[in-house]
Amino acid sequence: MASPYDISEIKTRALAGTAAAGTVSALEAVRVEFTGRKSELAKALASIVSLPPEERGTFGKHANAARREIDDALAERKAELEAAELSEQLADDRTDVTLPGDPYPRGALHLLTQVRLEIEEIFLALGYEIADGPEVETEHYNFTALNTPEGHPARSSSDTFYVDGSAGTILRTQTSSVQVRVMEARTPPLYVISPGAVYRRDDVDATHSPMFHQLEGLAVDEGLSLAHLIGTLKHVAGQLLGSTEYRIIPDFFPFTEPSIQLLVRWTDRAGRSSWMELLGAGMVDPNVFSFAGYDSERWTGFAFGMGLDRIAMVRHGVPDLRLLFDGDLRVLEQFS
Ligand code: PHE
Repeated sequence: MASPYDISEIKTRALAGTAAAGTVSALEAVRVEFTGRKSELAKALASIVSLPPEERGTFGKHANAARREIDDALAERKAELEAAELSEQLADDRTDVTLPGDPYPRGALHLLTQVRLEIEEIFLALGYEIADGPEVETEHYNFTALNTPEGHPARSSSDTFYVDGSAGTILRTQTSSVQVRVMEARTPPLYVISPGAVYRRDDVDATHSPMFHQLEGLAVDEGLSLAHLIGTLKHVAGQLLGSTEYRIIPDFFPFTEPSIQLLVRWTDRAGRSSWMELLGAGMVDPNVFSFAGYDSERWTGFAFGMGLDRIAMVRHGVPDLRLLFDGDLRVLEQFS
């Protein structure tokens, strides 16, 4: 009995399938179909034992030759398809050097830093120098040397942060603490500003925070008067705030006499307009000169302390001081 398998016909179909396979995975399906363990060819080879002995040799040779031809065709086609897929992938993945680059997020200075630098520039142009002072300060420089005696209400622990365990040590409540430090280190004439953080146990509201920033100014020379102080403040306010409405009224500070306050028009979140204190100032009290060892018969001077945060608020329409300290990028990015 002859084999029921037509090897030539199987081979023709296998080669046609191989040639038609368009992808490596389609080719793999062809391979399994025609040469796998359950393929017709495998069955044909397995059927050899049931053939009459005289037919086995010829049939076997024929089947094995077909198997090799199919294997060769599969291997060749596989190489072709793999090469095509690789070059297609290379074409797809090609770097397009004309594409815009990935955006790189740029940092920017915080609004308060921008405002501080700008004010520093205004004073540098007037011939002032910049001085630094410690935030952890002694009561001496923050109060006593500023003519603020023991028992003065500003010194009470309800207004001032006292540093535990270190008698006489506080967080400075004002940059005025730098005044006497500068005078001790220098001889007049001097024109100095000193920006920095200060701390108070204030109630927190839209214009108050326990930490805020001031910029101190101190001028000591011969013949300085209140007119020089007011002229300086008007110049700086004009540079910073343009035509914003402001007014100057009398005030009191222990370390200046006379003392004044400068207020500006400010509009809150609800759209209500009011006067906001922007700075305190005055003529240096002779007692402060004597703490510094200056001859108050010869030298006169003026000092001022402006709220940097408040200047930023007025300048940029920030409705709440706390927005400047929250670190919310949605706010900060508006000023970058
Ligand atoms: N240190 C004062 C304050 O914080 C401001 C001030 C500075 C007043 C210098 C007069 C002179 O309120």
